[in-house]
Amino acid sequence: MNFKRTLITTALPYANGPVHIGHLAGVYVPADIYARYLRLRGEEVLMIGGSVEHGVPITIRARKEGVSPQSIVDRYHEMIKKSFEDFGISFDIYSRTTSATHNKLASDFFRKLYEEGKFIEKTSEQYYDEEAHQFLADRYITGTCPHCGNEHAYGDQCEACGTSLSPTELIHPKSAISGSKPVMWETKHWYLPLNQYESWQRQWILEEHKEGNKRGHEAWRPNVYGQCKSWLDMGLLPRAVSRDLDWGIPVPVEDAGGKVLYVWFDAPIGYISNTKELCEKYPEKFGSWEKWWKDPETKLVHFIGKDNIVFHCIVFPSMLKAEGSYILPENVPANEFLNLEDDKISTSRNWAVWLHEYLEDFPGKQDVLRYVLTANAPETKDNNFTWKDFQARNNNELVAILGNFVNRALVLTEKYFEGKVPLAGETTDYDRQTWAEFTRIQKELERLLDSYHFRDAQREAMNLARLGNKYLADTEPWKLAKTDLNRVGGILNLALQLSANLSIAFEPFLPFSMEKLRKLLNIRERFVWKDLGRADLLPKGHLLGKAELLFEKIDDALVEAQVKKLEDTKKANEAATYQTKPIRESISYDDFSKLDIRVGTVTACAKVPKADKLLQLRIDDGLKGRTIVSGIAAHYKPEELVGKQLCFVANLAPRKLRGIVSEGMILSAEDADGRLSAILPDKTVRPGSEVK
Ligand code: 2FM
Ligand code: ZN
Repeated sequence: MNFKRTLITTALPYANGPVHIGHLAGVYVPADIYARYLRLRGEEVLMIGGSVEHGVPITIRARKEGVSPQSIVDRYHEMIKKSFEDFGISFDIYSRTTSATHNKLASDFFRKLYEEGKFIEKTSEQYYDEEAHQFLADRYITGTCPHCGNEHAYGDQCEACGTSLSPTELIHPKSAISGSKPVMWETKHWYLPLNQYESWQRQWILEEHKEGNKRGHEAWRPNVYGQCKSWLDMGLLPRAVSRDLDWGIPVPVEDAGGKVLYVWFDAPIGYISNTKELCEKYPEKFGSWEKWWKDPETKLVHFIGKDNIVFHCIVFPSMLKAEGSYILPENVPANEFLNLEDDKISTSRNWAVWLHEYLEDFPGKQDVLRYVLTANAPETKDNNFTWKDFQARNNNELVAILGNFVNRALVLTEKYFEGKVPLAGETTDYDRQTWAEFTRIQKELERLLDSYHFRDAQREAMNLARLGNKYLADTEPWKLAKTDLNRVGGILNLALQLSANLSIAFEPFLPFSMEKLRKLLNIRERFVWKDLGRADLLPKGHLLGKAELLFEKIDDALVEAQVKKLEDTKKANEAATYQTKPIRESISYDDFSKLDIRVGTVTACAKVPKADKLLQLRIDDGLKGRTIVSGIAAHYKPEELVGKQLCFVANLAPRKLRGIVSEGMILSAEDADGRLSAILPDKTVRPGSEVK
C-alpha cells in the first residue's frame, strides 16, 4: 500500500500513577523511534499521546487516597507528561480525556451510533454493593479467575493470565470497595453488537493482514494476529459501552439515568480528539484533523502493549466501522511485557523502576535507559530488565563501541590536525570496502525500522559503530603518523564522516546523545535520513568541537544501590503480606518434657569454611562443653556472639554438618522477612541452666 502520511498513536496510560520502564519499553520508546525515523525521512507524520482520565482505575485511586478523581488525574497527568518529555518521547500532542474537545467528540460519536441504531439496549442483572450503594463494574469487583485460579482477578480482566473477563465469570466475587459479597440488581445498558462485525473482522484481520496477503497490506505480528484469531474463533459477543458510575462522560441520550460511557469506549476516541485538538490549534502546520482520520491515504499505526490488543484490533475498529467515516489501523505492533529482575512489574507491589526516580538516580542518562529497553524490547516474547545487564550494555556497548569510536576519531584529529577535518585524499580498496559494508548495514537498518523490528534495528546501528572501530583498529593511523600523515588524514576523514553518519543513524534511538555528538562534531545543519551513507558530510577544514566523552561508565556501586532498593522492596512486600503461621497440632506434657533446652555461653565462634550460612560455635554448657553448627551466619558475625548466652536444644541426636559433629541446635526466632534472632535469657544465668 502506498500511504501519504502516518498517524502514530500510543496507548493512553491511566492517570492513576506514575509511569515506569514497562510503559517506556512496551509502547513509547518504540513509537518514538518510529516517529523520529519517519520525520528524518521527511515524511508527514503525527504522534499522538495523552492520559486516560476516566474509568474505575481512577476512582479506585481517588478512594484510596481520600481525594477527588479530578485531583488524581490532575496530579498524575502532569507527572506522566513530564516523564515522557524528560525521556524525549516526541509527541506532537500529549493531551487528556477530560478535555472539552474530547468530551464533545466522544459524546457525538456515541450519539451518532445511537441515532443510527447501531447499539442494542439490554437490561440485565449486574453485581451491586449494598453497603457502598453502587454497581460493581470492572475493577470494582474482584474474585478468582476461572482460567488460572488467580484470587485477585478483576471484573474486566485477569492480570495473571491476561484473559479478559466479565464480572459474572469470577468465582467468589467480592466488592473491591467494601469487601462485601455483592448482590444482583437489574440495570439497563447500551451494547455494541460485536457479533455483527465478526465476519467482516475475519476478512479484514485474518485475510487482509495475514503474512503474505495479496492486497499489499502489512502483515500483523504473530502475537497480535494469533490473539485476534483466537478471539474471533471463540465468537464475538455484544459488549456493553456504558457503565453505572459517577465519574466519566455522561451517556448523551435522554433519560440515560446518570450512566457514563465505558472507559474503553471513550479512551480510544481520545486518539481522535487529541489529533483534533492539535490540528485546530495549528491548522497551518498540521492541516485538518479529518485528513488524518478520514483519508485512506493516511496510515494509522497503534503502538500498544499486549493487554490492549483486543480493544485496538477488535473493539475500536468495530466502533470505527460502525461510525463509517474513519480509517482503520494498518498495523498494531503490540509488544509483550517487560519483567524486572525476573518478576512481573507491579504497581501495587512497587516492583518497578519509576521514570522520575530513575532520573533522580541517573541524571542525564535518558538515552542509556532508552538504549537498554530497546536492546531488550519484548517484541516477540516477554523480556527481562536487570540492573547488571543495564550496566553491561552501557559499559560494553555505548561506552566501549559507540562512544569509544567517536572519541578516537576526535582525539586523533585534535592531535594530528588541530581539530580540523583533514583532506580525504586518495581512497583505498579497504576504504571502499568499508563504505560498501556501511551501505549493506544501512539497508538492513532501514528494512528493520520499516517493519517495526526496533530491537534488531538498533543492533544494526551499533554495527555501524563497530565498523568504525574495526576500521581504525585495522588501519592503525597512530602508527602511520610519523611516515604518512596524508594517509592518516584520509583515515581520519573517513572516521569523522562515519561519526557524522552515526549521528543520523542513532538519532531515532538516542536523541539526546546525538545532539551532543552533533555538538562535538560542530554540526549546525540538521542532516536528514537521505544523507546517510554520504562520505562528504563534513567538509575539509571544518573545525570540530572539543573532544568529550559521549557516554560514561556506570560503576558497580550505582547499580548495586538499585539492586538493594529492589531487595528492600521485596522485603517490605513480604513483611506486608506476612501471615502468622497457624499453631501446630497440640502435644502432651510428656512430649514436651522430652525436650531438654538449656542455656549456654558462647566461648568461641567461627565461620564454617565454604558454607555461607553456617557458624561453628563452642558452648560452655556447664558440663564438658559442646560444639554446635548453626545456620545463622547471615544474621550474626562470629565475634558478635562470643560471650553471649544462648538457648539450645541439648538432647538432639548429634549429626554431622560439613564434616563437623553438631551437638544440639541454637534456638532463634524467625521474623517476617526471614531474619533470625537468637533467643537470649533476660539475665545472666549459670551455663547449663534448664529452660522450662
Ligand atoms: O491499558 C491501559 O492502560 C489503558 N489506559 C490504555 C488505553 S489505550 C487507548 F485506547 F486509549
Ligand atoms: Zn487468570
